[in-house]
Amino acid sequence: MKKHLDVLLVCDTPYFTPRGYDFSKEFKELDWETERDIYRALKQNGHKVTLLGIYDDVGILLEEIKENRPDLIFNLTEVFRDKVYLEKNMAWLIEMLGIPYTGASPTAILICNNKALTKEMLNFYQIKVPGFGVFYRSYRRSIPLNYFRLPVIAKPLCEEASRGISRASVVDDWGLLAKRIKFIHQKMNMDAIIEEYIEGRELYVSVIGNKKIRVLPTREMKFAKIPNGKHRLATYRAKWDSNYRRKWGIRNSFARGLPEELNKKIENTCKRAYRALNMQSYVRFDLRISPDSEVYIIEANANPCLARYDEVGASAEKAGISYNKLIQNLISLAFQRK
Ligand SMILES: Nc1ncnc2c1ncn2[C@@H]1O[C@H](COP(=O)(O)OP(=O)(O)O)[C@@H](O)[C@H]1O
Ligand SMILES: [Mg+2]
Repeated sequence: MKKHLDVLLVCDTPYFTPRGYDFSKEFKELDWETERDIYRALKQNGHKVTLLGIYDDVGILLEEIKENRPDLIFNLTEVFRDKVYLEKNMAWLIEMLGIPYTGASPTAILICNNKALTKEMLNFYQIKVPGFGVFYRSYRRSIPLNYFRLPVIAKPLCEEASRGISRASVVDDWGLLAKRIKFIHQKMNMDAIIEEYIEGRELYVSVIGNKKIRVLPTREMKFAKIPNGKHRLATYRAKWDSNYRRKWGIRNSFARGLPEELNKKIENTCKRAYRALNMQSYVRFDLRISPDSEVYIIEANANPCLARYDEVGASAEKAGISYNKLIQNLISLAFQRK
């Protein structure tokens, strides 16, 4: 691998930006912190960086590659034409170009984007996941509702960032569950997954590597001011609304006081899950620890947020891997896979 690479940093944009577009205005906005942090880290690591934004036309990616074939594509695309389910197609396209690229393979994105598919695979390897069932829009009803033990949580099958998840998503009444499924089908235009609601601590574990993998220090979402007896969950507002977070004392920090044995169990579960799902590069698992210390995988996030102070970056830093080093490691992993 060359020391100084020609890197094409590809991200999605909510509007059209031509090749050679100057992103300095966007870089001042919070929404763009990941792109900005990575752009800077790549530069500081001595690489030549071209940033290309893609909205609804992959033509500009093909043009760019034809004219300036880079050594590496740093893939930050999460949506195409605002659609999460097209994230895998972007990775497929990038893979077909035959250039080393960072992050998850298209297959890994496909598996992780579908919350039922992930759980089916983990179930097969006897890794604990909440009981679940899928309600597709195209069938009247695939599973009898009373198949589940209440309370349950109803979520869009293929979404991210807690879109479509609010406190009303957890229900302990069949009528309300049917209503919630209808909301996901009709208002969000998505299939729904119903899961057994796992009460307990909410943890985030980042794993990096290909063949040799490393589990980074565990993070936790804490809900200091949510009264006992009320469900604590990472709703859309709990993740993204700073006033709401302040009001309910919601903070993300390193998980404290986990008994050594439980720590080992978490690490072991995440390693097994990473291999069972055939993940590469980096992944963040969302976990719940039940009161009887069972470790449940709620979700595997392929290509999770890489902003400097987000979960992966913070956990790497704690493990002694500086942000610039983390970004450089992801590049090495891309070449290793090639
Ligand atoms: N089965 C479950 N039991 C308990 N909490 C859950 C469950 N599923 C989701 N949640 C809560 O909702 C949040 C978002 O769910 P998740 O499946 O990770 O969706 P997203 O992809 O939008 O992040 C979780 O972080 C957790 O707080
Ligand atoms: Mg999640």
